[in-house]
Amino acid sequence: MKFYKLTPAKRRALLRQRGIELDEIDEQVLRELDLLSENVIGQLRLPVGLVQNVLVNGHKYQVPLSTEEPSVVAAANHGAKIVTEAGGFTAVSQRNGIWGQIVLQAAADFKIAKLQAFFPELIKQANIEYASLVLHGGGVKTITAEQEKDLVFLKVLVDPAESMGANRVNSILEYMAEKLAVFSGIKQKLFAILSNYPSQITKVEAEIPVEVIGGITTAQKIALLSRIGQTDPMRAVTNNKGIMNGVEAVLLASGNDTRAVEAACGVWAAKSGSYTSLSEWFVQDKKLLGRLSLPLPLGVVGGSIKSRKDVTQNYRILGEKITSQELANIIAAIGLANNLAALLAIATSGIQKGHMKLQARNIVANLQATSSEKKKVLQMLIKSNLYSQTAAQEFLKEIRKENNASRN
Ligand code: MEV
Repeated sequence: MKFYKLTPAKRRALLRQRGIELDEIDEQVLRELDLLSENVIGQLRLPVGLVQNVLVNGHKYQVPLSTEEPSVVAAANHGAKIVTEAGGFTAVSQRNGIWGQIVLQAAADFKIAKLQAFFPELIKQANIEYASLVLHGGGVKTITAEQEKDLVFLKVLVDPAESMGANRVNSILEYMAEKLAVFSGIKQKLFAILSNYPSQITKVEAEIPVEVIGGITTAQKIALLSRIGQTDPMRAVTNNKGIMNGVEAVLLASGNDTRAVEAACGVWAAKSGSYTSLSEWFVQDKKLLGRLSLPLPLGVVGGSIKSRKDVTQNYRILGEKITSQELANIIAAIGLANNLAALLAIATSGIQKGHMKLQARNIVANLQATSSEKKKVLQMLIKSNLYSQTAAQEFLKEIRKENNASRN
């Protein structure tokens, strides 16, 4: 039988026959996961950490972040606390819709004006066919067309309402493309698929009195670092990675498509023609001002969101009535918080001090030791400022030697 047709238990048995050792997994969990994905043989677990009381547009949110990296959660907490105490984040999200692209090949006698005249009718027909989306507040909004030689490029804007909407948009585009393919002067439909080009843009801002972050010198250094990121792609991409640390952790925790946002943010950072920082920091009137704009095509319903218990729990934390607009605002705020924490560390003590303290946990987690031994090793690593597996092994030996000596 084909591998994808097997039950997860049978797939795992096959792997074991090939000599691969697999961790135990609950049968019920495995069956649930099999409904979510393809060729399922196991699960990958990630911790969910919390950023408490993040003030966005006057509302306090509890924000779950899913990541294996402790410094991401620590940085988000640090940055969010600073901004929240300074009055909070201000954010606005455009939720116009997502782009779809239909490309047709035209014959020599094709008249674009005739096709354009058909668009209102096409929108009407699509919105009748996909009436349930219209019922939820979405639907096809606009179509525009441009011709380049024998190719006709159509840009379709579809409002997916509260969902991310990728599947729905693709169905709508294919439906429309079928109708367009038989239009007079059209030779063939080349493709009809959503475009991940940025459309749902969220803008977030923060204003921090300079004394909160250690004074004007630190604030000016942060502004200077930000200026470097505006022109130097080497720095810009690292700055943006720090932003994506927080953004992706909330996307994952909320069951959203991290890849769609990553792809859109990449092109957004290069929208001026050269790659630059997504954020900007500057000093004005003894305040450090930060701004970030991000494309956040996301949803709070649809896809696997409501069928995953680990995700629905996170919505109970975020607020079950949260809208996609609010979630986008929160995610951008967390991105800016992570960015602020990173810039603040770089401008002052450097990034490694805090990082290594947190990394020590990962080092300790790998030790073959009891939990009380691990706790002691962790304290010794932090105290000695030595953060390596070798140091951890040495400390473990020391602890065991001392324990043996006190027993004898
Ligand atoms: C590390 O995950 C992220 C940072 O490199 C971001 C930055 O440099 O701005 C600290």
